[in-house]
Amino acid sequence: MMTSMTTTLAIANQKGGVAKTTTVASIGAALAELGHSVLLVDLDPQACLTFSLGIDPEDLELSVHHVLTKGLHPTEVMIATEDGVDLMPATIELARAEAELLTRTGREHVLRSMVEALAEEEVEHDWILLDCPPSLGVLTVAALTAADGVLVPLQCETLSHRGVGQLLDTVHDVRRFTNRGLEVWGVLPTLYDGRTTHARKVLETISETYELEVVEPPIPKTIKFAEAPAAGRSILATSRSSKGAQAYREVAQHLVARAQRPKAEPARPARTRAGATRGGR
Ligand SMILES: Nc1ncnc2c1ncn2[C@@H]1O[C@H](COP(=O)(O)OP(=O)(O)OP(=O)(O)O)[C@@H](O)[C@H]1O
Ligand SMILES: [Mg+2]
Repeated sequence: MMTSMTTTLAIANQKGGVAKTTTVASIGAALAELGHSVLLVDLDPQACLTFSLGIDPEDLELSVHHVLTKGLHPTEVMIATEDGVDLMPATIELARAEAELLTRTGREHVLRSMVEALAEEEVEHDWILLDCPPSLGVLTVAALTAADGVLVPLQCETLSHRGVGQLLDTVHDVRRFTNRGLEVWGVLPTLYDGRTTHARKVLETISETYELEVVEPPIPKTIKFAEAPAAGRSILATSRSSKGAQAYREVAQHLVARAQRPKAEPARPARTRAGATRGGR
């Protein structure tokens, strides 16, 4: 087994519009500022991450879709961006990947293979951040299978956090079947309006109910984020000293510290779903 210097982190939540893509772009830029080499992977056919980094998906002939379904080597697709990070771009073609992969053996492992292919070529980044689409489909499962950890951006204003339980069930399945080493790094409060006590209460409830770490500081809701994607740069470049940029920098520092924490011994799945039999030998 190859030991890798890369930390692969999936940013996932099947709920749409909770700032997954913004988080990937901003933490990516913050890690680059700290001198880390970073690869961002756009796993959403909407290609918002690709677009927000100044690349028009319509100008691309090759994308992550070709790596995942056509066996292209990732170095043929990877591009450098102005934000100082590398990008595995997406195009709308990725919408077909989900269907194409459904009938393929080993589909859960396509992203893990991509990460390993990069390591074999010694194109090793310190970080690979996976921007998951808003679903728990093949691509998200493949991302969780490739990842050392998963970070869950969460908008605290809404009460609809039942989705978190579903996501954690998927994480448990991935641990059982495809990636025993996957760790939940916690929830990141996004679009946070600290003026409401409601937001803080929701956050407490979630961390208690699901026994999840809360990654601090919360990312404040600010109009600056709406402006950044159009500029093709992350908020760290377009609005260097804004509160939002500063919050993402602090989060990035926490993630760097978290990556150095020794891995928990991959436990045998302790928790079984109702109805499932344990052990089964
Ligand atoms: N802290 C913030 N303050 C204000 N607006 C924000 C903030 N973070 C993100 N946004 C805006 O919220 C919208 C959704 O963000 P984003 O695209 O990052 O979410 P997402 O979870 O990736 O969405 P999807 O599920 O569709 O992929 C975008 O318009 C973005 O500019
Ligand atoms: Mg997104």
